[in-house]
Amino acid sequence: MEQSQDNPFTFTVDVSEAKLDKYDHHITRSLSEMSGQYADQPAYDSALAREDVLLYEVYETSRPENSGELLNGISVLHPGKVGDEYFMTKGHFHAVLETAEVYYCLKGEGMMVMETPEGDWAVEALRPGKVLYVPPRWAHRSVNTGADEDLVTFFVYPGHAGHDYGTIEVQGFRKLVVEENGRPKIVDNPRWRSPQNGR
Ligand code: PA5
Ligand code: NI
Repeated sequence: MEQSQDNPFTFTVDVSEAKLDKYDHHITRSLSEMSGQYADQPAYDSALAREDVLLYEVYETSRPENSGELLNGISVLHPGKVGDEYFMTKGHFHAVLETAEVYYCLKGEGMMVMETPEGDWAVEALRPGKVLYVPPRWAHRSVNTGADEDLVTFFVYPGHAGHDYGTIEVQGFRKLVVEENGRPKIVDNPRWRSPQNGR
């Protein structure tokens, strides 16, 4: 029986424009989709009343969502803050917890905030040229700590990983990244909720 197969393909990342020359999906996320995630609720409400600002964009090539595939693309996180807290992605566990992800930072400056269901947490700086390996079980959220530049990362993860956004929507991340005296600072999330029934 004949096996169906794909052909190898390439695409180019224009780092200064933060765009791929070929992609299938362009996903955008704005402030209204981050309800309950920023610590300073009055700052969130008044920012949203002014404008439902675009926080980040993801450009992806489409691949089948099975374990032999690698989903990949770029994430473009715009600069800004809600109160003292920098713009950030929603963040997620992978639905298949035992799946990893690799990020390669192309532009800007930021941090990846990570944690496991077991209570470990980690924050790694992202700078152009830096590769971040997010092991299986680690939820991940990128934060743009730059004053006026996009944080652009290339990411790759297994095709069957899926996204669990719900856990973070309910419990948040243990740590937040805020600006203090003009510099990023990692602080406890006062609204972090312990998982009710362990994962
Ligand atoms: O695969 C990833 O982890 C990234 O591509 C993210 O999906 C991307 O940065 C957007 O973040 P989120 O999916 O948490 O909204
Ligand atoms: Ni991921």
